[in-house]
Amino acid sequence: MRVFFAPMEGITDAALRRVHREIFGGVDVYCLPFHKLTQTMSLLSREKRDIDPEENRGLEVLPQALTRDPNQLLAWLAWVKELGYTCGDLNLGCPSPTVTKRGRGSGMLRDPGYLQSFLDYVFSQSLPVSLSVKTRIGYEEASEWERILRILSEYPLDHVTVHVRTMKEQYTGGKHPEAFFEAVRSGLPHPVYNGDLRTPEDVSALLDRCPETEAVMIGRGLLADPALARRLRGGPPAGSGELTEWYTRLYREWEGRYLPVQALGRIKKLMEWPAGGDIRKKRMLRKAQGIEECIRAVLQDGE
Ligand SMILES: Cc1cc2nc3c(=O)[nH]c(=O)nc-3n(C[C@H](O)[C@H](O)[C@H](O)COP(=O)(O)O)c2cc1C
Repeated sequence: MRVFFAPMEGITDAALRRVHREIFGGVDVYCLPFHKLTQTMSLLSREKRDIDPEENRGLEVLPQALTRDPNQLLAWLAWVKELGYTCGDLNLGCPSPTVTKRGRGSGMLRDPGYLQSFLDYVFSQSLPVSLSVKTRIGYEEASEWERILRILSEYPLDHVTVHVRTMKEQYTGGKHPEAFFEAVRSGLPHPVYNGDLRTPEDVSALLDRCPETEAVMIGRGLLADPALARRLRGGPPAGSGELTEWYTRLYREWEGRYLPVQALGRIKKLMEWPAGGDIRKKRMLRKAQGIEECIRAVLQDGE
């Protein structure tokens, strides 16, 4: 079974991918947060740096685009090819109102007719690299999945990641694993399960219900437990020395890339995941002035 590290804007940058691979491993594909495409194809300098093959040396990465303009997508795929990558991903999942109100991300699912004409146009051209999509199962209702699934099944997509929620369900609302099972049964090209896999037991339960599962994508589960993918392959859980090294190295990398206040903000955002529901740890983390204090707050129980 292949494991994808989910794209998470503001968290999963090239530094995180490299340090994660060196310390924990177990991940097959690291996904890049979306590039919001524009008419001029002008990307932010941090986005250009993040996709730079040098920054991602030795990693299998999957870049992602957010657009509802097929020509923008095609131009971006050509650029992805120039950089030496072989696949690009289209975001059909982002639920942020600023994105969906322009009909992008999961906003594309609100109008399946448009989605179909978009994909018709894209696949009528010769694609520079293969295309995958990352989708939710509907905009308002899970019942929309049947039509979306029928549409996606018509195209030779490289793979389809299915976050088993609607746009309305955001990140914590009800979820619908059956939608993924239906996708597997329907013959959708290489479906990848995504949504709330937090432990090896969650993945075993998924495989019990759907033994044909070829691949899973994990986001927040890997933030809370960076050794999760390794554990799925029978490897050991994260040791305390490894965790200290993980956060310290990441912080040092981020210090070299961002302003000190931003680097500290990023590490705190990441360390909220292992702190989980522990209010005391979270309070100490919030007050921490540097990486040592963050580590003391979350890993050493405030000692
Ligand atoms: C902070 C944050 C940022 C995210 N950014 C992206 C993104 O750039 N592109 C994308 O397709 N999904 C994005 N997602 C969604 C995740 O990739 C994933 O689909 C979602 O968290 C569900 O998987 P999980 O339960 O394993 O975390 C983001 C999620 C979070 C929490």
